[in-house]
Amino acid sequence: MRVLVTGGAGFIGSHLTDALLERGDAVTVLDDLSTGLAGRLDPGVAVHRESVTDAVALTRLAERIRPEVICHLAARIDVRASVADPAADAGVNVVGTINVLEAARAVDARVVFASTGGALYGADAEIPSPEGLTPEPEAPYGTAKYCAEQYIGLYNRLYGTGHTVLRLGNVYGPRQDPAGEAGVVAIFCGRVLLGRRPTVFGDGAQTRDYVYVGDIVEAFRTAVDHGRPGVWNIGTGVPTSVLDLLELIGRTAGHAPEPLFAPARPGELQHSALDVTRATAELKWCARTSLAAGIAKTYKWAEAGEPIDAKC
Ligand SMILES: NC(=O)c1ccc[n+]([C@@H]2O[C@H](COP(=O)([O-])OP(=O)(O)OC[C@H]3O[C@@H](n4cnc5c(N)ncnc54)[C@H](O)[C@@H]3O)[C@@H](O)[C@H]2O)c1
Repeated sequence: MRVLVTGGAGFIGSHLTDALLERGDAVTVLDDLSTGLAGRLDPGVAVHRESVTDAVALTRLAERIRPEVICHLAARIDVRASVADPAADAGVNVVGTINVLEAARAVDARVVFASTGGALYGADAEIPSPEGLTPEPEAPYGTAKYCAEQYIGLYNRLYGTGHTVLRLGNVYGPRQDPAGEAGVVAIFCGRVLLGRRPTVFGDGAQTRDYVYVGDIVEAFRTAVDHGRPGVWNIGTGVPTSVLDLLELIGRTAGHAPEPLFAPARPGELQHSALDVTRATAELKWCARTSLAAGIAKTYKWAEAGEPIDAKC
């Protein structure tokens, strides 16, 4: 299959590109390399340094390589940056997605879109949150992702396309960007490796649905092959607290890290976990990597490289 991966030099996109190449797909990457690194990818992969905000360049590339599927992962992912500059966030995350949909329309490609589950459902959502809930995002990032989803639904109705939305939980694993929704895993691993005390904001009881990047890649591959439109939560369904996460990292490291407690950050969600019943039934997908196994892989990766020393 010919696949275009936007954001393919990013944390999740590079794992997805590796996996698609491994099964014999012809993969092209479009990435502006704002946070992505071309060095993460196999040197044989064509990386086009373009922005999804450039509609002309995007469509020209699509017309040249004629992808059957576009996996759209390019995004500004920093939730706090979206609060500081909502227009810039929407420029990439909303308008960029519209540009991807138009490029896909020009070549009759299907789009599989990386949306968010963790930043979508809001503070009062039932846990685990099913797809049917009305999203009430707490930041412009989640609003932009939801708006992009609405365009995808609109294109499916207008043009009969089979575009797909995957609402990802808090994704962690090797190559993780600390600014992402689950950046805390990379940051904690870095602090523990350096023998520094990780900072826990609030009481550490806040929970997230941490899902291993290998399971996310498997969900994308399944959605690519599934071929029908849909909106699916992609997570584990299990809420894990920050303190439990830290304890697991400590077990992997072989010593218990002593957290530094700091005041809770305003606007931070207390709880988030995704109901994955629909993905299990319709995509026959479920997360297979336990948190302990995923953390062990992430810690090993951090140990082998330059540990991230951020205050978290
Ligand atoms: N990491 C998570 O926990 C998580 C959770 C839910 C959803 N997602 C979504 O998954 C996708 C991938 O996230 P990630 O964690 O790998 O982040 P990432 O920052 O590592 O990857 C995003 C990639 O997009 C590229 N990019 C940014 N702006 C671009 C633009 N204007 N044009 C072209 N490329 C651009 C970046 O250079 C980077 O390579 C994003 O859409 C994100 O919103 C991530």
